[in-house]
Amino acid sequence: MEAAPTPPVTLVIFGATGDLTRRLLIPAIINLTQSGLVGDDLHILGVGIDPGDDAMLVEKLDSFLSQLDDDGAHQKSEGWQRLRQRISYISGDFTKDGIFEEIKKRLSAASSGNAAFYFAVPPQFFGPLVEKLAEHGLTTESDRGFRRIAIEKPFGTDLASARALNAQILSKIAESQVYRLDHFLGKETVQNILTARFANMMIESLWNNNYIDHVQITAAETVDVGMRGKFYDATGALRDMVPNHLFQLLAMIAMEAPNGFGAEAIRSEKSKALSALRIYTPEEAQSHAVRGVYTGGTLNGNPITAFHETKDVSPDSKTETFVAVKLYVDTWRWAGVPFYLRTGKAMTARDTEIVVTFRQVPFAQFRETDIKRNLPPNRMVIQVQPDEGLSMELSIKAPGLSVDTVPVSLDFRYADKFDIGKMTGYESLLYDLFIGDQTLFQRADGIEAGWEAVQPFLDVWAKSDQAPEPYAPGTMGPSCADDLITQDGRQWHALGVLSHNHAGASK
Ligand code: BG6
Repeated sequence: MEAAPTPPVTLVIFGATGDLTRRLLIPAIINLTQSGLVGDDLHILGVGIDPGDDAMLVEKLDSFLSQLDDDGAHQKSEGWQRLRQRISYISGDFTKDGIFEEIKKRLSAASSGNAAFYFAVPPQFFGPLVEKLAEHGLTTESDRGFRRIAIEKPFGTDLASARALNAQILSKIAESQVYRLDHFLGKETVQNILTARFANMMIESLWNNNYIDHVQITAAETVDVGMRGKFYDATGALRDMVPNHLFQLLAMIAMEAPNGFGAEAIRSEKSKALSALRIYTPEEAQSHAVRGVYTGGTLNGNPITAFHETKDVSPDSKTETFVAVKLYVDTWRWAGVPFYLRTGKAMTARDTEIVVTFRQVPFAQFRETDIKRNLPPNRMVIQVQPDEGLSMELSIKAPGLSVDTVPVSLDFRYADKFDIGKMTGYESLLYDLFIGDQTLFQRADGIEAGWEAVQPFLDVWAKSDQAPEPYAPGTMGPSCADDLITQDGRQWHALGVLSHNHAGASK
C-alpha cells in the first residue's frame, strides 16, 4: 500500500541548533520530502538558546548538511533546497514565558493549526516544557488542528522518575497526544519482527516454550563513550540501552498476536509482554546480571581511552559500560525460556541482533553424526544492524555416501533484495508523528513496566561496593558475561558472525 502524504503541519523543534536536529531530524525530513511524503506545507519552527534569526539556523544547517555525506547529497538535494525556505527560528530561554507567546503568535499566523512539538533537549526540560506549552494554550486541540509532543529518551532515570514524568505530562495532555520515541523502533528490521512472526505460519507456530530453548538480544557497539562522559557516567549501559531499546526488541519477540494492526492493539500487547517480565528479588537481581567496564587499549587499530580516564568521568566511577542480564517473561508462552540480553561499548563488533535458539531435536537418528558438532539446534537470527537481514540455521545432509549432517545458514539480506538507501531511521517516526499513528511510540504503561523490571538491578548495584569487571576494548565483554550463560549450558552467539558469513562463508 502506498503511504499517503502527511497533512500540513508546523514542526516546532526545541533544541533546533543541537546535534539531534541536524544529524537526524533534518536529514530524515529531507528524505521524506524527496520521496514526496512531506510536501511544501510542512514548516519548521526552530527554538533554541543560541542567539540568531531564521538565516542563522538555515546557515548552520546548510554548512552541516554539506559535510554530512561525501558528495553533500543532502545539502544539494531538491528536497533541502525547498525545505530551507520554510525554516524559521526563535531564540530565547524556554524556561521563560515570552518564548511561548511568540510561538503562539507564529502558530496563529500559520496556514494550518496542526503543530507537533519535538523535544530535542536534555531530559530535565521535558516536564516543564509540557507545562509551559499547556499553560499557554499551545497543547489544546481544536477543529483548527492537532497538537502533539514528541519526546526523546531518556524517559526517566528509574521507575520513580519515569512515573513522575508520565504523571506530570498526563496531567496536562492526553496520552493520544504524547509520542515517546525510541529510535530503535524506526529501524526497518525491528519493524520486520512483527511481519516475520505474524505473516509466517512456519515461524509463529513454533514461537513458544515447546520449541524455543532461549532468546539472546545483543546490542554491541564498537564506539566508546567519547565526549559523552558526563551523561554516560550518570547513566551507564543498563539505563542507556536496556529498559528502552533492548526491551522494545524483547517486546516484539515476546508479545502475543494483536487483535488488529491498530496502534492501540499493538501497544497493548507490547505493554503486556513487558509487564510479564519477572521482577527479581535483590538476591535474584544480584545473580542474574553482570557488569563490565572497558579499559584502555586499541580497537581496529585506533586507541581507546579507558572509561575511567575519559573526560568528565569520575576516576572511581562504578558505572558500567557493559551489562548482561538474564530475564524471564512469565507468561504461558514463555514459561521457563530465558531471555539473555547484553549491550556494551568498545566491543569487538557493531552488532545488534536477536538470536532465537530452538530446542534440540528429541532424538537423533544419525548414528554417524557427532551431535554436538554437527547437529546444533536450529537458530533464527534477526540482524538489526549493520547488514540488516534474517537468517535461519538448519541442518542438512552432507553430500556423500554416508548419512552425516551439517549446519547451513539460509540467509536473507535486505540490501540484496531492496534499495534501502541511506535512511536515518527517523523517517518512519516523523511520518507517523505527522499522520498521528502511535504504533511505533511507547505508551506510559510500557515505559513503566520496563523500568519496573530493571529497578531491582539498579537497587542492588546502588548498595554494592563491587565495581564492574574490566574488559579490554575489542572483546566480547567481561568474562563474567560468559559465566552468566555458560553456567546454564549455553553460549553467546559470536559477534559479527553473520556479516562474515555473508561476506563469503555461506556457500
Ligand atoms: C542511544 C544511546 O540511545 O542509542 C547511545 O544513548 C547508543 O549510547 C545509541 O550508542 C545506539 O543507537 P544505534 O542506532 O547507533 O544502534
